[in-house]
Amino acid sequence: VAIHDEAATFPRTTRMTALVDITLGPTLRRALSAGLLNDASPAALFYDLDAFRDRLGALSRAFPGALHALAVKACPLPGLLRPAIDLGFGLEVASEGELAMAQRLATPVDRVVFDSPAKTRREIEAALSAGHRLNINSLAELARVAEVMERPSPPRPASIGLRINPGIEGASIEATFTGGRGAKFGVALDEDRDAIAKAFATHPWLDGLHVHAGSQGVPLDMLVEAVGRVVELAGDLTARGATIRVVDIGGGLPVRYRPSDRAADFAAYAAALEQRVPSLFSGPWRIVTEFGRAVFAPCGFAASRVEYAQRGVAVIHLGADLFVRPAYRPVDWHHEIEVFDPTGQPKSGPESGWSIAGPLCFSGDFLARDRPLPPIAEGDIVAVRDAGAYTLSMWSKYNSRLSPAVHGFDQRGFELLKPRETVEELLRFWGDPGPVG
Ligand SMILES: Cc1ncc(COP(=O)(O)O)c(C=O)c1O
Repeated sequence: VAIHDEAATFPRTTRMTALVDITLGPTLRRALSAGLLNDASPAALFYDLDAFRDRLGALSRAFPGALHALAVKACPLPGLLRPAIDLGFGLEVASEGELAMAQRLATPVDRVVFDSPAKTRREIEAALSAGHRLNINSLAELARVAEVMERPSPPRPASIGLRINPGIEGASIEATFTGGRGAKFGVALDEDRDAIAKAFATHPWLDGLHVHAGSQGVPLDMLVEAVGRVVELAGDLTARGATIRVVDIGGGLPVRYRPSDRAADFAAYAAALEQRVPSLFSGPWRIVTEFGRAVFAPCGFAASRVEYAQRGVAVIHLGADLFVRPAYRPVDWHHEIEVFDPTGQPKSGPESGWSIAGPLCFSGDFLARDRPLPPIAEGDIVAVRDAGAYTLSMWSKYNSRLSPAVHGFDQRGFELLKPRETVEELLRFWGDPGPVG
């Protein structure tokens, strides 16, 4: 309810319907004059805080009355999660660490959704007894949850849903597609329909359905189809006497990384759902969402000084450590790249094919290969767009490089959201080699 009320307070700007378009030059120039990129901190991640608020506003308005549990896996920065929680958003968590983050941020218990395909008995117990929402991933997990919920004095979680695998086909990125046939995510709608009906008939505490078809690479019509199948199931189960209080539609709204990518926004998704699955909005259930990428990705960009530039290769300080997927699966993942001079002015000059290499000790560590870019020189700045999701959250410690500082910015200036990792913190991760000397 708070989310609904808060939505009214967001100003309407053109950015809400268009995708976020951060102008990099002015921000970079301010960052450079504030000394945020230098030898001691040669790369950083930047978040446009106004754009972030706009994304939250757009999401709230598209699904009024829904509980929006932001996917922590996309961007676990307290500096962004905290203001969202203050505005009435919840958090979707999928591990002990993410759950601890939600709890330390004092997220109201009924706004925490615990998903994971690998929940231990301990995690199940902790989430249920804390009063959170939990989505069961498999029939085997259902049996574990039943052990807890069918005790003489069971806990009282906010809701317990069953994740359904809708069995759709045609996503473009296999590694982040979760809605097709395969045993890892959810109970298969086509194969296990009877078991699903039986589960709801035998366990009155089971009161929700959950679907999350994938993250990027699943076009809007497939997302809608997946939700449609689950809403139809909700209707079916209700007709058989079950009480469905929650339909959790997951996240997965794709982001425009390439200029040629089809842009979709929350409003367009809601409109498509309204048209093709109207009963989603009129059923006796509350809608829960779990968006991550579409909220965070367009609000962030990364920037690094160019350490060396020769023979068409620019070596920068970010590579497969921050951009795990683009480095390892460049056919699937792409970021637009722009080059600036050391004062933050856009570089000009004849374009030629440049490869942007990361700092790690393996030859596949490239962010881009043979990209048409203006001449690049040592000391220039390479900026990487749409870097706000699944970047720092997937940080790789290979080569023990220090994770970069994260800065938020708005009209007033910069706010340090996370300092650059220190050598001490890094050493502790590996098991504390002892004091100096
Ligand atoms: C269960 C679940 N919910 C939500 C999300 C968030 O997806 P996205 O960031 O694409 O919105 C994910 C990520 O894959 C997920 O696994």
